[in-house]
Amino acid sequence: MVLPLSSPQPSPIWPGLPFTSRNLLAPMEGVTDPVFRSLVLARQTPEVLGGTYTEFLRVLDRPRQPIEIERMLGPRTPGAPVGIQLMGADLDALGGSARNAVELGVPLIDLNFGCPAKGALRGCAGAAQLKDPAGLERVVASVVRAVDGAVPVTAKIRAGYDHADDVEDLARAAEAGGAAMLTVHARTRAEGYSPGVDWTRIARAVSAVSIPVCGNGDVDTHAKLRTIRDETGCAFAMVGRGALGNPWIFSGESVSATEQARFLSDYVDAMCREGAAIQGAAARVKQLIKHWTLGVLIPDEETRLELMREKDGEVLLTRIAGLVQLVRD
Ligand SMILES: Cc1cc2nc3c(=O)[nH]c(=O)nc-3n(C[C@H](O)[C@H](O)[C@H](O)COP(=O)(O)O)c2cc1C
Repeated sequence: MVLPLSSPQPSPIWPGLPFTSRNLLAPMEGVTDPVFRSLVLARQTPEVLGGTYTEFLRVLDRPRQPIEIERMLGPRTPGAPVGIQLMGADLDALGGSARNAVELGVPLIDLNFGCPAKGALRGCAGAAQLKDPAGLERVVASVVRAVDGAVPVTAKIRAGYDHADDVEDLARAAEAGGAAMLTVHARTRAEGYSPGVDWTRIARAVSAVSIPVCGNGDVDTHAKLRTIRDETGCAFAMVGRGALGNPWIFSGESVSATEQARFLSDYVDAMCREGAAIQGAAARVKQLIKHWTLGVLIPDEETRLELMREKDGEVLLTRIAGLVQLVRD
């Protein structure tokens, strides 16, 4: 069954664009590059997938230059709802980067307050900012000021740093800073990506603010896009790893093995056209194979593990082509 997870109204985060869906593809470093994003967006309608983001762009002590921002954005499809995600702690550098992005026509700026990587934490960026709601508010407010209403600014947090006791404070801080929407990944920084997620933390954020909240964490089936809304009251739902395992999760349609295979081969072809070496393309395909939940192409764990173990990129891609041939026959 295809659930109507869309509203007749345009989405509040893409004013002027006809993307009515409240389902979003999560930013994922090393995954949601321009190639993956466009393959997914091209296979979903604006009524089932309402937008996505670049991987995070780390901002240190100087504004990111247009050429660096262009690299994150990649070749652009006019009207495609792709916001840029910035992560940093230097207010001037973040503001300057946001302005440069706006000048390049980026329709939305998202701020990352969830990255648990050591490099980010050392620079007091990403999840480190969850320890200081007032500081988080300052970051949001300064970027909102820098773009001066030209585009919406959104924020993406985890439920907390070591614990989730302050999720309401964090949500209020993002709202007070002027965020147009707040995404809550229901895990804390300490919980990393561990299995099991507590969506009541999203519900608490929803109750604390009046801006739209986007719920995130373990939405790994189409049905859960509805469940997370029903259980938490969130207005948007964001899918991360679930979309690696099933790029059609947003529509919930069942997809033939041939169509699945086409996705993987289009992915490899597009990466190679963009200049990726065969080993790089193979590593990216492995990320999808690791999560792939559409059983027809990868019928069992044994096949999955064999593919994951393959070190030679050429061999891996030939083996995938073999699987494709098998299901075609
Ligand atoms: C490989 C990988 C890279 C990620 N990179 C980012 C990122 O660049 N920015 C961000 O805000 N979150 C990032 N995340 C977190 C996801 O956006 C999402 O919040 C998290 O995976 C939980 O959602 P899920 O359970 O649906 O995967 C990343 C997650 C993964 C697995």
